[in-house]
Amino acid sequence: MCGITGYVGHEEAAPILLDGLSKLEYRGYDSAGIAVRDNDGKVRVVKAKGRLKILSEKTDGGTTLPGHIGIGHTRWATHGEPSEANAHPHISDESSDSSAVVGVHNGIIENYHELKEKLIAKGYKFYSDTDTEVAVKLVDSYYRESGSPLEALEKSMVVIRGSYALAFMFKDYPDEIWTARKDSPMIIGVTNDESFIASDVPAILKRTRTVYYVDNLEICRVRAGDVKFYNIEGESRPKEAVSISWDAQAAEKDGYEHFMIKEIHEQPKAVYDTLSTLLKDGLTDLSSTGLEDSLIRNFRGVTIAACGSAWHVGIEAQYLLEGLARIPVRVELASEYRYRDPLPGFWEMNSDTAPAAGPVAGDLVIIISQSGETADSLAALREAKKRGAHTLAIVNVLGSSIAREAEFVLYTHAGPEIAVATTKAYSAQLVAIDALALHFARVRGVITEDKERQMTAELMTIPDKIRTLLEEKDRIQWFASKKINTRDAFFIGRGLDYAVCLEGSLKMKEVSYVHSEAYASGELKHGTISLLEQGTLVVSVLTQNRVLEKTLSNMVECKSRGAYLMAVTTHGHFEVEDIADFTVYIPKIDEHFAGSLAIIPLQLLGYYTSVARGIDVDKPRNLAKSVTVE
Ligand code: M6R
Repeated sequence: MCGITGYVGHEEAAPILLDGLSKLEYRGYDSAGIAVRDNDGKVRVVKAKGRLKILSEKTDGGTTLPGHIGIGHTRWATHGEPSEANAHPHISDESSDSSAVVGVHNGIIENYHELKEKLIAKGYKFYSDTDTEVAVKLVDSYYRESGSPLEALEKSMVVIRGSYALAFMFKDYPDEIWTARKDSPMIIGVTNDESFIASDVPAILKRTRTVYYVDNLEICRVRAGDVKFYNIEGESRPKEAVSISWDAQAAEKDGYEHFMIKEIHEQPKAVYDTLSTLLKDGLTDLSSTGLEDSLIRNFRGVTIAACGSAWHVGIEAQYLLEGLARIPVRVELASEYRYRDPLPGFWEMNSDTAPAAGPVAGDLVIIISQSGETADSLAALREAKKRGAHTLAIVNVLGSSIAREAEFVLYTHAGPEIAVATTKAYSAQLVAIDALALHFARVRGVITEDKERQMTAELMTIPDKIRTLLEEKDRIQWFASKKINTRDAFFIGRGLDYAVCLEGSLKMKEVSYVHSEAYASGELKHGTISLLEQGTLVVSVLTQNRVLEKTLSNMVECKSRGAYLMAVTTHGHFEVEDIADFTVYIPKIDEHFAGSLAIIPLQLLGYYTSVARGIDVDKPRNLAKSVTVE
């Protein structure tokens, strides 16, 4: 979703704003703009539809906009089409080159229509279709009354409904930027004599590692090297800066053609680093999460809420937690969970127990999210808390909203993930779930310590086995180039293999634009099989011994209807080759963990198909990395 940058210091602001925006490109956008105040107090705004490159060309890399303070924005359209008029920054007064208020916004102002009507009644005119222009003019209306940015923001926050990260420059405060935030991310980086505003850490990593995370409903005054925080009542609040440990290199391509392939190659490390924090002396150890064994013993069930790939991890978790730890699990799309009045304690209901509405103490809700900022997942977390459930967040981004609001946090250690399509964060989440399931299983007395040791030893083989699989990437590239004109693809598997298929299919469609669906192989003949035509690509995953023959039969059914078959199976199942047209073998591993290996060829298939089709693989159309609106 939208990206925000801001700078105040002694250097030229525009090139810094553009560079910061380039580091936020991964968030997805369709237009961009910057506003810089010069030394005479005049603000110049330049915007461009399309790629940041166009904005950079229009401003000659920022050099045509002199000034040491400014704000920048990449816009992912919500209200109004992608166009220059709708691009941010927006201004309060078109007829002046020193507009009283200039602002950028990430999020959605839900009551913008109502606010706009009121502002029109006050005499305001609008030049764009955006909710942001409404926010700028609303702030302007309060600013005109009091002359105080703080008061104008406080009053605006009281009447605005929705989510926002806002950054403003005010005419009479030429050395300050003001920000306000609710449910959309925002950080402030500082050095001795400069300050940086951004939607995410990579935008400022080159310049500083000292960062403040802006809290919900917090207002912030940013001067060069000096940041002050206020609550919505306008009272000043103390805040500690944190030091970011990633190096800037982690957010660069490092010689790879795309971030996605770089991140695919970083999976052994992401998996190893995540496991290392969850295993100790051969056993799982969740002490870093704060979740205590006494609680784990008493959970009656687990609800998992997440979106997209993180939801796929949830499906895998259901098989693992139920299979290994014998605890009931329900997996929810966060966007549904938040609105459908769920009962966290459903598993205890029987004919003698009336379903209790509202919280059932003792239940656990797990929220899985790479960014920790996904609006639906954050809302699901709040819903679960409201209902009295214990909450555990599995999150990759340190200090993100979900991490801060959950009762317990399990951090994955995938490092910054830039490509829109998740790969290494997904893999890190999978092994986090593996460790969690093993821990629950031992603590709840389902498996012995010996068994757990044996299984954690298997888990630790995953990084090397992924490395081995990556050595085979040329074969997948060859296969992808052969199937470049594929119109439809179906991914089929049973049990844990089905969970992998969901993710493999998403990888295919989101980056290569090939229509793709995942089906539990047993479901094919209940409808989907009618879609098969001569040459339709069917990808089967067969790592689960108990159901392997069943899926083999389903493959035969597909083949006899003209399908072209790719199979991913475990080394040793050579019978698969008799049926499949193209087979990839994964190294042998305990079946519970095979998903971590089977996904690798499927990620590569999506990636190479996208590249062969000439698609912008890191920034596929219409998608945003972090979905901070509903
Ligand atoms: O940041 P989150 O994990 O909460 O994001 C959830 C989904 O938006 C995300 O997994 C999305 O489906 C990925 N782009 C898929 O590759």
